[in-house]
Amino acid sequence: MAEMDMEIAQWYAVADMRSLADNTPIAIKILDQAIFLWKSHHQLYAGYDSCPHRGTPLSLGSIHQDHIICPYHGWRFDTSGQCTNIPAQHRSPPPRARLTMLQTQIFHDLAFVTLSPKILKGPDCPLFPGRTVLCGPYDFSASAPRVVENFLDVAHFSFVHQGLLGSIDRPEIVDYLVKEYAWGIEASEVRVFQPNPEGSSQPAEVSYTYRVLGPYTAQLIKKTPSGYFGLDLFATPRDTTHTQAWMVIHLAYHDNALSDETLQQFQDVLAEQDRRIVESQIPKLLPLDDRELHIRADRLSVSYRRWLKTHQVRFGTC
Ligand code: FES
Ligand code: FE
Repeated sequence: MAEMDMEIAQWYAVADMRSLADNTPIAIKILDQAIFLWKSHHQLYAGYDSCPHRGTPLSLGSIHQDHIICPYHGWRFDTSGQCTNIPAQHRSPPPRARLTMLQTQIFHDLAFVTLSPKILKGPDCPLFPGRTVLCGPYDFSASAPRVVENFLDVAHFSFVHQGLLGSIDRPEIVDYLVKEYAWGIEASEVRVFQPNPEGSSQPAEVSYTYRVLGPYTAQLIKKTPSGYFGLDLFATPRDTTHTQAWMVIHLAYHDNALSDETLQQFQDVLAEQDRRIVESQIPKLLPLDDRELHIRADRLSVSYRRWLKTHQVRFGTC
């Protein structure tokens, strides 16, 4: 595989559709690439954020009748990226006057962009029945693989999320199963005692299933006495050490009483607790060699690192 093939062939969550204003371009960053994004009548458009004329970011420009207009000399580009008008000359724009546009998709109220020039299916996160609640974005000064590994780390609950997702009196992790598949990794039967799962204040013995669905995408499903709680993690590497993480909660509870705000606030608290740790880790990039020690409880992390190495994921790793 050529360098970055795996990273490029992914969908990246970049914006909450509900807070994107119509016809107002914004600047985003994926894998260190500057990209503009705009929404018009529920259609999403994205492209590399550099005008072919003098390299000005189109994200500083404006939208008029489904065209993006460069703020420097007013060149206008249609939604396919082709320049249709150069105000300083009457002749029609040359074919080379075009923007490289990118594929977009909307999933769970999230705007996704891929840098892949090939048609991609996905984003690959299986849908659950029941309610969904979008949380984030959470900005981490950390590499995306460090953020994903923290999401997959089962032994930190008793310390980082003490009193919420774990108890200092019950830190042991009993053996659990990890299987590697062509699509990713699944760990099941991860059993944890939780004093306050999801902010419900109902202590419970819970069982987790984790899935790694891509280099920067993971999912957990927690079975509690009152039902299922699912959480998708979409970690978007802005650059090698800055990550924007989005989470989608899926709820299939017998008692579905917790409000969206309560669930979001609880997730905000957990993310803040994780942020302190993840941003402090050295090295910033996730080591794929054997410089860090592992124990049996870390076998999901070990499997994730092996998977990244096998798929030659270099962005955010070392
Ligand atoms: Fe964009 Fe000149 S730099 S029109
Ligand atoms: Fe955590």
